[in-house]
Amino acid sequence: MDIAEIAARLERLNPRVAATAERLAVAIPAVRAQLDREYDRMLAGIEASVKPYGGQVASYLRLPPQGVPRDEVLRQVDDLATWERPRWQDGLASGAVYHGGDDHIAFLNRAYATTSQVNPLHADLWPSATKYEAEIVAMTAAMLGGDAVAGDDPRRQIVGTVTSGGTESILLAMKAYRDRARARAGRRITRPEVVAPTTAHVAFDKAAQYFRIKLVRVPVAADYRADVGAMRRAITRNTVAVVGSAPTFPHGVIDPIEDLAAAAADRGIGFHTDACLGGFVLPWARRLGYDVPGFDFQLPGVTSMSADTHKFGYAAKGTSVVLYRGTDLRSHQYFTATEWPGGLYFSPTLAGSRPGALSAACWAAMVATGEDGYLEATRRVLQSAAAIRRGIAAIPQLRVLGDPLWVVAFTSDTVDVYRVLEQMTLRGWSLNGLHKPAAVHLCVTLRHTRPGVAERFLADLRGSVDEVLALPAAKEGLAPVYGLAATIPFRGMVRDLLKKYIDLLYRP
Ligand SMILES: Cc1ncc(COP(=O)(O)O)c(C=O)c1O
Repeated sequence: MDIAEIAARLERLNPRVAATAERLAVAIPAVRAQLDREYDRMLAGIEASVKPYGGQVASYLRLPPQGVPRDEVLRQVDDLATWERPRWQDGLASGAVYHGGDDHIAFLNRAYATTSQVNPLHADLWPSATKYEAEIVAMTAAMLGGDAVAGDDPRRQIVGTVTSGGTESILLAMKAYRDRARARAGRRITRPEVVAPTTAHVAFDKAAQYFRIKLVRVPVAADYRADVGAMRRAITRNTVAVVGSAPTFPHGVIDPIEDLAAAAADRGIGFHTDACLGGFVLPWARRLGYDVPGFDFQLPGVTSMSADTHKFGYAAKGTSVVLYRGTDLRSHQYFTATEWPGGLYFSPTLAGSRPGALSAACWAAMVATGEDGYLEATRRVLQSAAAIRRGIAAIPQLRVLGDPLWVVAFTSDTVDVYRVLEQMTLRGWSLNGLHKPAAVHLCVTLRHTRPGVAERFLADLRGSVDEVLALPAAKEGLAPVYGLAATIPFRGMVRDLLKKYIDLLYRP
């Protein structure tokens, strides 16, 4: 029996039995060997694209006996950056670089260079870092409905911290809900659960794994938005928080946050809006007249939010903001230690020492961009995205999923969309492959608003679809990997493949 046959048989079993059968099957040496050969074959197909430099550049597998002159080191860094720049600069990437203008980058670099030694852990040495971070949080809170929360009562005010990115913001918010539930005076929750739609970012799974929370994933409705009734039904007496996205990473749609937050409030539990992607877009989209449903702290049931400064906040990579309604919830995020011989210790986030320069550059980006800058940037992104969405919808073989504003996911009922993705990759594009259902998305950024970029995307997409219609399927490359990941019931096999892929990345 070969792998395909075992997989086909497993598919007919119920998922729990299939998982056990899978464990038993892969313990058979012959099956294991065949799997390993299969992994190697697949990874060999993509190795060249993740390791393009080969012997063309100097590499160091141990420290050079004598330090390399700085000019030479900088030349090496410049060369690599120069090779890599055109793809993202010309707008060939989905998301990834959200502003990318030369002047803007030079400005951020200047703020970074001036503050590269700053560590917010030493608040006495660098009170400037504290100032930057407190103001980043205040500006983000005010933008996300914090202004509407009246009064000076710290139990109600919108507060938060700066983190290293969307994932850390989400991890910390989930930890805060877990620890608050554990610390409750009344019925303490020791087996915490979080209810999230299937489309909420995978960082919630990471939080669940790291913090031993049960993540209850609820299938979304036909429009790819959270199903409020099903979410409501998934809440139990162990639920510590409910989650929604504004918008979701896969399909760029905004969950019905108002109803979800109300459902959480009815049960006396927290609600987290993941606005990592939309936090710095939706407030401005609304001001521009787009129909943006409630998603932020203006809704009384929303008790925490994540919003990424390093995406549409146009900061350098490495910052995000997590916000809470009231200081009490935030305090459950903090780490404090009172008995360590190294002294009294506290830190607000996961890291100990932190790059204060990233906070300085983030503050600089926000203050220099201002409301007028974010409005104009949002206007340009949404206009380009609308043109791209119309163009995709006009390709007969493709279909746009849901009703997105600027993250446009598409699939096909007639061609293999992963082969279309592969053809786009051959044309230089770096798009995101999605599954469940099989789809591809483009997250439109300021890079795509430059003249000709949207037109090039649509022309390449039409060309890619035509190529797929004309050519037989290849056995190697991206499409079979995505195809396998999407369909195979061997989830352990897919996990192994991903781990081997990470191993490959760390191979010098
Ligand atoms: C909706 C959403 N949440 C969370 C994240 C995670 O952000 P990060 O990659 O900065 O950790 C992303 C990233 O794209 C996202 O789109």
